[in-house]
Amino acid sequence: MELIHGLLNRVSIQRLEAPGPTPEQIEVMLQAALRAPDHANLKPWRSIMVTGEGLTRLGEVMQQAQLERNPDSDELVLDRCRKMPSRAPSLLVLVASPADHPKVPLAEQIQATAAAGYAMVLAAFAQGVGAVWRTGWVVEHPLIRQALEVEAQEQIIGMIYLGTPSVAPKPVPKIDSTNFITDWH
Ligand SMILES: Cc1cc2nc3c(=O)[nH]c(=O)nc-3n(C[C@H](O)[C@H](O)[C@H](O)COP(=O)(O)O)c2cc1C
Repeated sequence: MELIHGLLNRVSIQRLEAPGPTPEQIEVMLQAALRAPDHANLKPWRSIMVTGEGLTRLGEVMQQAQLERNPDSDELVLDRCRKMPSRAPSLLVLVASPADHPKVPLAEQIQATAAAGYAMVLAAFAQGVGAVWRTGWVVEHPLIRQALEVEAQEQIIGMIYLGTPSVAPKPVPKIDSTNFITDWH
């Protein structure tokens, strides 16, 4: 797929089914992420691939976390939390793993991680792998961070759901770019 075609046509796929990406497709996604802009080439991120039994276990932790947030959560809400990770066959947790650096502030290391995440979803799209990047309260909840062994200085930047699209991609919206650039002389 032409790069410009991918850039202009990538869309998230909200409904995903098995099979998940192959190891070769994941490797392409990782290599694309490793080519993202990155001040001082720090590669200040890591990722965790959750599949199979891991999705079930993570769902149980999310349910527990929801109960901690609101002990009065009803069964419907708890069930939705338990099933959250299993909305796709593969879930890639993208973790910013910044360290003190004399020239690269924390914010830039987070930005570099986000750039890596975008490269991942773009590379997924280019290979016909459906992807949707989600966050929400789950990325910050201590129980979930602990279960995924996220260190104190780290941040979960995205939970990138991956799989085979089970719905047609939505049409690409046409957006007038003139509001997004000004001239300065
Ligand atoms: C940092 C980040 C966090 C996001 N979190 C969510 C989320 O929690 N839930 C959601 O539906 N979309 C979330 N999105 C947006 C989707 O990934 C997606 O971009 C959006 O639905 C628009 O669809 P499109 O990518 O096809 O334009 C997030 C995107 C980013 C970059």
